[in-house]
Amino acid sequence: MISPFFMPKGYNKSKGAIHMDVEEAMLKRRSVRQFTEEKVTEQQIDKLLHYAMSGPSGLNRQPWEFYVIKNEEINNKIIDAGRFSKHHSPLKIIVAGNTHRALPLKMKQIWIQDCSAAIENILLGVTSLSLGACWEGVYPQEKFVLRIQSILNLPSHIIPLAVISIGHPKGEVIPRDQYNSRYVHFVGEENAII
Ligand SMILES: Cc1cc2nc3c(=O)[nH]c(=O)nc-3n(C[C@H](O)[C@H](O)[C@H](O)COP(=O)(O)O)c2cc1C
Repeated sequence: MISPFFMPKGYNKSKGAIHMDVEEAMLKRRSVRQFTEEKVTEQQIDKLLHYAMSGPSGLNRQPWEFYVIKNEEINNKIIDAGRFSKHHSPLKIIVAGNTHRALPLKMKQIWIQDCSAAIENILLGVTSLSLGACWEGVYPQEKFVLRIQSILNLPSHIIPLAVISIGHPKGEVIPRDQYNSRYVHFVGEENAII
């Protein structure tokens, strides 16, 4: 079947193989917290950033910033900054909200959902590239937000939401199915339990 979708301009799919489809990636994604020393290539990093910014955002404001950390010294500072990110990985991507690009007033907090969509895209992309990753929450834990802002020298309107540790998994990553029918509500159907 011919796909009705074209690859966007500026994205070269042929640079590196796509290893699995989205369904497989969603079912295989797990948090990986132990990594080998092997580096993540520039090509893979570029792909992950493309995946991230392909995510949806409220009114397409794209209120995200991505800080790519390969430098060992900064990487270690992040690890020392809190219990949330103790995992040694060759690469970290910090996803932060830029509240100057966020929606106004009561809608401002939507940046968290926008950045979360970008993070999940990165995690699925990581899985598809046979890498591993862990989402480590920062915001709303104020002390960790301040520590990351200080390490990266960020102004207060850039709020780090998560550190994503990325690398080649040490050991096997075991997929598992978390489907639970108790969390599913077929609204308006006969015998529906709500
Ligand atoms: C918002 C958020 C924050 C998280 N923070 C951490 C964290 O600080 N440290 C950590 O090791 N894992 C963290 N995780 C990963 C979860 O522990 C993990 O997703 C969960 O246990 C389910 O396991 P799985 O990802 O392998 O399916 C976080 C996940 C989310 C979505």
